[in-house]
Amino acid sequence: MNLTLKVWRQKGPADEGRMVTYHVEDVSPDMSFLEMLDVLNERLILEGDDPVAFDHDCREGICGMCGMVINGVAHGEQRATTTCQLHMRHFKDGDTITIEPWRAAPFPVVKDLVVDRSAFDRIIQAGGFISVPAGSAPDAHTIPVKKADADAAFDAATCIGCGACVAACPNGSASLFTAAKITHLGLLPQGQPERDSRAKAMVEQMDAEGFGGCTNTGECTAVCPKGIPLETIARMNRDYLRAK
Ligand code: SF4
Ligand code: FES
Repeated sequence: MNLTLKVWRQKGPADEGRMVTYHVEDVSPDMSFLEMLDVLNERLILEGDDPVAFDHDCREGICGMCGMVINGVAHGEQRATTTCQLHMRHFKDGDTITIEPWRAAPFPVVKDLVVDRSAFDRIIQAGGFISVPAGSAPDAHTIPVKKADADAAFDAATCIGCGACVAACPNGSASLFTAAKITHLGLLPQGQPERDSRAKAMVEQMDAEGFGGCTNTGECTAVCPKGIPLETIARMNRDYLRAK
């Protein structure tokens, strides 16, 4: 396939940034989206140009590092798919593809398609943990957990912290991410002692970082590669009200 890419280029946080057009040729439909960008970058390096900066790590859809807005949709139009797991077979020869970074004030652009998502780290630091006494590991069956609770907690725990929910939300809200993290601990017995302080601290940190409020538009859940449902946010709000 031969493609036209319109890519956001921004030298650094203070640079204004602009869209730059590139043509890539002989793209295999079996390539991932990031491999297609690797091909572009190899050419740019050979030509003495600055390669396009983008975040990635596992390239298996599990780490949450990758993420870009492709044709106006966070992670692209393929549902429940991270950018690294998006394959070029979903595009057509001759397509023009626009590629931009996550756009939200609490995620400032570092360079090109790389944004600073350390605001998510600070939300986790505020309460996304459980405190346990030190010592040897307890037997796995010491604390029984209902199957339904274990399953629901695991579903919430699949959030990889990619930030697509923030990028898609018209309010730049981090509610889906924060709710997933509050929920996966709040459903388990080990998470009960700090349940109230966790909900309060994490929601307040989310607000302090400048993320917007949730107005139930549902854009977040539509782009979430892990299918975290909107009900998770309602659960977070109930926990927060209870904590207050
Ligand atoms: S809730 Fe979904 S979209 Fe948001 S950070 Fe987690 S995995 Fe990414
Ligand atoms: S690079 Fe790890 S989820 Fe995409």
